[in-house]
Amino acid sequence: MSQLTQKVFNPQTLLDKTMDESRQGSAYEGLGTGKKRAYVETYGCQMNFSDTEIVASVLADSGFGFTKNEKEADLVLLNTCSIRENAESQIWKRLEYFKSIKKRNPGLMVGVLGCMAERLKKKLLDESGLVDLVVGPDAYRTLPVLIEEVESGQRAVNVLLSREETYADLAPVRLNTNGVSAFITIMRGCDNMCSFCVVPFTRGRERSRDPESIVREATDLYQNGYREVTLLGQNVDSYKYESVSFAGLLEKVALVASDLRVRFSTSHPKDITEDVVETMARYENICNFIHLPVQSGSSRILEMMNRGYSREWYLEKIKMIRGFIPNIGLSTDIIAGFCSETEDEHRQTLSLMEEVKFDSAFMFFYSQRPGTLAARKYSDDVPEEIKKRRLAEIIELQNRLSRESNQNDVGKTFKVLIEGDSKRSKNDFCGRNDQNKMVVFPKDDLSLQPGDYVSVYITSSTGATLIGQAV
Ligand code: SAH
Ligand code: SF4
Ligand code: F3S
Repeated sequence: MSQLTQKVFNPQTLLDKTMDESRQGSAYEGLGTGKKRAYVETYGCQMNFSDTEIVASVLADSGFGFTKNEKEADLVLLNTCSIRENAESQIWKRLEYFKSIKKRNPGLMVGVLGCMAERLKKKLLDESGLVDLVVGPDAYRTLPVLIEEVESGQRAVNVLLSREETYADLAPVRLNTNGVSAFITIMRGCDNMCSFCVVPFTRGRERSRDPESIVREATDLYQNGYREVTLLGQNVDSYKYESVSFAGLLEKVALVASDLRVRFSTSHPKDITEDVVETMARYENICNFIHLPVQSGSSRILEMMNRGYSREWYLEKIKMIRGFIPNIGLSTDIIAGFCSETEDEHRQTLSLMEEVKFDSAFMFFYSQRPGTLAARKYSDDVPEEIKKRRLAEIIELQNRLSRESNQNDVGKTFKVLIEGDSKRSKNDFCGRNDQNKMVVFPKDDLSLQPGDYVSVYITSSTGATLIGQAV
């Protein structure tokens, strides 16, 4: 699952925007009217961003309004990530900051949600002395009761994990959205035990959400003007609900509307099946893009990581995928400097990257997480400078591969779903092509608007973007 940068959840601007963008429907109506106001920040992966939309729905139902100004808030919530040490230290800094605000406003309630809440539990209350509320990812329905407890002067914790909770019946309040593209969580938790990873501990056992509620959500989104849904799970290929497999689910969602794009994340190399890839090839609206985290190019390291595949197996999967879909867009995740990784094994990662030619990648150096298999079994023995140097080499190589991949697209024409104004200029639109590449082009055609499809001829490129002209 790709890591998003921290975003301040800003419902008020979205509310304003909604008023003049009819395609967004009435999702925000009434949201700004509650007496008590909440301010929420989200960190970590797309699933956390998707969870914040569930949290917003629970809060709105219990009469909360929202503010984008933390100084006006009665309740501050941080939806947190534990994946690497860095992720957590960022949160500790934020908590220190909110301590200063609390001094001026002693009534302010501060809550920690998400993976760090689950990992640290009560410790968060004890150690910080500034958190009032700790709520794990499966306990968001209990937020209103917990908030009441805090209001009555207690501190409240619920970090129970569930084997069933999928929040299937809750209508997410679409906060992190451009009105075109939305996330749909299809499963929660993870049953893999990758030795480096904290997620199985923070998110609990894997469970799939029923397909009817997923299709209903996709249909609602489509009717509200959305043109792209991303199906989310830590390992979507192991989705299973009664007789419906992930391939079956993909097909059901693809059938919602032929102009609703379907994406998904994350796939696991050991679990992705021919069925899934064949289904992708069969439906034009299932995007030709797969995020397939490899983590390492060395079979020995992969074994220690408990990933369940070897270098050769991974390369075979890529071959299978390209057999069905020659123009597939591919991205990956890579960890540099895992326990005992040698220089030669690091070079195997570089050579695998070169061989696959990923279009993009999320790259990290190994960060030991307490309680994980790797922390218990292996020594975190690659010195930090070496980890960082290896990571730098990986990033440099990927930058070149991304540049080359984009350069290859110059002269091609792509169908682009317009997402909105480009970041750099209000005179340009941006949107992505089927392969998930960002395309920027001038707004020459005045009738075009976000949510429309347009053919764009690519005239130049950078490492991150394709630049073109609508045709
Ligand atoms: N479910 C997804 C991954 C979720 S975490 C999958 O199986 O691919 C996203 C990425 O963070 C992982 O793919 C991995 O590359 C990275 N990551 C996870 N734990 C890490 C750790 N302890 N140190 C460094 N990177 C880590
Ligand atoms: Fe973590 Fe592995 Fe599960 Fe991904 S598949 S969330 S890396 S344990
Ligand atoms: Fe996601 Fe971070 Fe949790 S990556 S699942 S928010 S540990």
